[in-house]
Amino acid sequence: MYSSSYVRKSVGMMVTATTSSYKRIRVRIPWKRYFWKASVCEENRSIVLRRQSSGEILQFPSAWLRDNCQCSECFSASLHSRIIPLAKFTARILPSAIECFKEEDGRTSVSVNWPDKHRSVYTLEWLKKNNFDEDDQNARLRDDFKFDKITWNANNFAQIIRRFSFETLLQNDNELLNWLVTLKEKGIAIIERAGQDEHLIEELSRRVGFIKRTTYGKLFRVEADEHSTNAAYRSTPLELHVDLPYYEYCPSFVILHYVVQSANQNEGENHLVDGFELCKQMKNYDSEMYDALVNTIVEWTDISQHDQQQMHHIHRAPVICLDSEGSVVRLNFSQHQRDSRLNTSVEQANRWYDAMNWFIHLALLQKNLVKLKMQQGDMLTFDNLRVLHGRGAFTSKRCLIGGYLDADIVDSKIRVLRTKLKSS
Ligand code: OGA
Ligand code: ZN
Ligand code: ZN
Repeated sequence: MYSSSYVRKSVGMMVTATTSSYKRIRVRIPWKRYFWKASVCEENRSIVLRRQSSGEILQFPSAWLRDNCQCSECFSASLHSRIIPLAKFTARILPSAIECFKEEDGRTSVSVNWPDKHRSVYTLEWLKKNNFDEDDQNARLRDDFKFDKITWNANNFAQIIRRFSFETLLQNDNELLNWLVTLKEKGIAIIERAGQDEHLIEELSRRVGFIKRTTYGKLFRVEADEHSTNAAYRSTPLELHVDLPYYEYCPSFVILHYVVQSANQNEGENHLVDGFELCKQMKNYDSEMYDALVNTIVEWTDISQHDQQQMHHIHRAPVICLDSEGSVVRLNFSQHQRDSRLNTSVEQANRWYDAMNWFIHLALLQKNLVKLKMQQGDMLTFDNLRVLHGRGAFTSKRCLIGGYLDADIVDSKIRVLRTKLKSS
């Protein structure tokens, strides 16, 4: 490790902070408590900042610092983006000099000279916001990216379900944020008293961003049509499923607006199961069965016609999809939209069928299956990658309007609202 630290007492005056002179500086400089010492660690190609008073350490890869120079040649503040061409970038780079200094406004900054004579200045505040400490990185991921997942079942559904007023969502950003975060955490929420206008989903979606259009249009209408090519558009019971598992870019959030609800008691009720809770139970019950649902690739298909367009969708994916950390991120499930083709060995097919048997058995257990009849004029909103949903049969008139929101748009709105509400 070599050290090339300097302190600037006031702008324009530099004092070398060697180990021997350091004590003298500490006594004489009033902002000594804030003094940081910078050094370069050649061994792991990094820059180390050490707070003299507390020993706190911040460490940054040297290449990362060069890559993230904040000067106007390298970074455009108006574009919020790096503009340094990658072709000019050298990964194996170490500073030729480095210093910590106090800006005129009192903030501490770090200046780095590079061998090609380029000079970068980073405020300590910016460095701290982007530091490489694992706990800080995890906290940032929690704020911006990851949401706590609160799982539920039939026993605690009444306690976890949150209800929002449609009118309030249109007017109040705090409530809008609460609704979107609820969708991320619990995967489900009810919106009450929207009314019977068939375009209200569009109005609500404009508050978030925009609707995700699919094969079935921007909005889709579910009412009994005995000639429909889609099982959802019949009055028969609709088995537990997720919508559009045959899409690689499957819509994340569903909004179902019950414009007309069946007048017959117990008809047309919704069936809901938290798929993430189910996965937990499945894994605890028999991890090999769980693995069979994770590892067997299934073909999800839709052959249909809508608005004079013939469709033939295929998406190849397991029932349970995991991310690189092993967390469940998406469930594919639909009896009607699963192809006969199963491109796997006979042994694996048998394992998969055993597992599917258990999966649906668990889903239909009284403790897991929530039955809920929506009120006319209300909206049911849920995470389509997580919640299995179905409905009972109905005989009297019933009509719902459906629409989808993408997770990208929902996540983005959450960040925008959090920033806006924090600064207001
Ligand atoms: C659907 C669906 C639910 C309902 O159309 O995919 O899940 O309440 N409908 O009819
Ligand atoms: Zn630069
Ligand atoms: Zn559905």
